[in-house]
Amino acid sequence: MRHLISLKEQTRDDLLTLLKLAETIKRRRQAGEPTNYLPRQTLIMLFQKTSTRTRLSFEAGMTELGGHAIFLDAKTTQFSLTDFRDEIQAVMRFGQILMFRAQKAADVITAAAYDRVPVIDACSEKYHPAQALSDLLTMSEAAGGIEKVKKIAWLGIENNVSNTLMLAAAKLGIKVAIAAPEADKNSVDPELNAVAGATGLVKRTPDLAEALTDADFVHTDTWMNMEFFENGQVRPEFKSEYERRLRVFAPYQLNAEAVERYAPAARIMHCMPCHVGYEISRDAIDHPHSIIFDQAENRLHMQKAMLVWLLEKEKEIL
Ligand code: CP
Repeated sequence: MRHLISLKEQTRDDLLTLLKLAETIKRRRQAGEPTNYLPRQTLIMLFQKTSTRTRLSFEAGMTELGGHAIFLDAKTTQFSLTDFRDEIQAVMRFGQILMFRAQKAADVITAAAYDRVPVIDACSEKYHPAQALSDLLTMSEAAGGIEKVKKIAWLGIENNVSNTLMLAAAKLGIKVAIAAPEADKNSVDPELNAVAGATGLVKRTPDLAEALTDADFVHTDTWMNMEFFENGQVRPEFKSEYERRLRVFAPYQLNAEAVERYAPAARIMHCMPCHVGYEISRDAIDHPHSIIFDQAENRLHMQKAMLVWLLEKEKEIL
């Protein structure tokens, strides 16, 4: 059974198939053709954290595939009353795929280990394969083919998105330069780092100029974790860590000046939500080289490809 968790399990050919599927499904949608490849199938979407793009893209994607998506906010379920392993086994009896935005990647891995239905890690503390694959689709479109993408620069904090993007990019033969003063410690996966590092394509450097020079794409993500905030305010217990991160990461902001000085041809990316004035400046979001909103839209097309691929239907489409 297929699962999409860290992308460690996927081969280069799997990644290329997912890209081709997403491009094909997107093209057919743009031509006004139906893309209802998953009739009568149900996607269960379990969220232990908030979301805009992930919920929208999977739910709209499943509708366009002719199936149905059920949104489960963990706070309104019985998960807190019982053993996770019992509740998740029951949940997986109600659909054909589980998409799980979990506090802990270990719980996603536990769910997948039952091999009852394909499982997607929809942004745990360690991985975000749906984002990484969508970002590669956006890069492929902007460059005119994934083989034309030579170098990605990642600025700011190393985290769940950079982990999966770095690994997938390295598997595809793309150089990844990371200019990050530190990694989110909960995101670190030594095995993933070893697999990506073994390609010889990953370079970590504190030097912004070195990271950005010759980059085709410059990408960043929030320096803060979702759990630091409640109703848009920093929770008191995370205030000192929030302020420390502001000081440490400020020199690694993605802004127009840095891009124009060191990588004037690079496209600007952010997986959103953007914290304007922190990891990214307003002039970078609105820059002529920004492809941030194409990147957001491509979540829809890649999520459809992932759902089709997980149910092993790609041969009926390609
Ligand atoms: N990038 C991303 O996963 O967005 P959401 O948190 O809004 O789902």
